[in-house]
Amino acid sequence: MAIVTIKGLNFEPYISREEIQKQVLRVAQEIRRDYENNELPPVFVCVLNGSFIFAADLFRAVNLEHSEITFIRFKSYEGTSSTGEITQVMGLAENITGRDVIIVEDIVDTGVTAKALRAILRAKNPKSMKMATLLYKPASLTTGEVPEYVGFEIPSRFILGYGLDLDGEARSLPDIYVKVD
Ligand code: IMP
Ligand code: MG
Repeated sequence: MAIVTIKGLNFEPYISREEIQKQVLRVAQEIRRDYENNELPPVFVCVLNGSFIFAADLFRAVNLEHSEITFIRFKSYEGTSSTGEITQVMGLAENITGRDVIIVEDIVDTGVTAKALRAILRAKNPKSMKMATLLYKPASLTTGEVPEYVGFEIPSRFILGYGLDLDGEARSLPDIYVKVD
């Protein structure tokens, strides 16, 4: 795999599609184990846009009968750093009151999005709420919003591919790339 250039910045291969699938399956097994004996199946809440590819793979791999998925949309990033402010662009159509909710995020960086999201969803009175994220940058976390299910813990470097973008670009790359310093 070669270097890719997006918006004038160089990115090198970081996590291969094979490694991604391996960790998606591992996280899916953890979720299945934790929810398979529940009376009501969980509702996955996919946080658009970045999480849609991970959510599609995870949801299928968990494969719990009668589980549901719904979508919410936020915007917090501009360029390669968090703006620290999040804007809700699209709300939740489904009712999650009394349900076990699994929030699906692509990446937890500062945790500002995770915190705001949990507050918004908590107001709808779910029975429980956990977060599954493909990637987690523990050194960047400023909010104490530690995700319950994590694919990869990574250092605080900017990455893209497999749904993650730079100003809307590079989401379709099957592997994950990291910015070359
Ligand atoms: P947080 O609110 O700082 O935790 O950031 C969460 C959101 O910022 C994620 O859902 C991503 O959309 C975006 N983000 C954080 N780090 C990266 C990265 O390294 N690459 C691409 N997007 C990122
Ligand atoms: Mg996101």
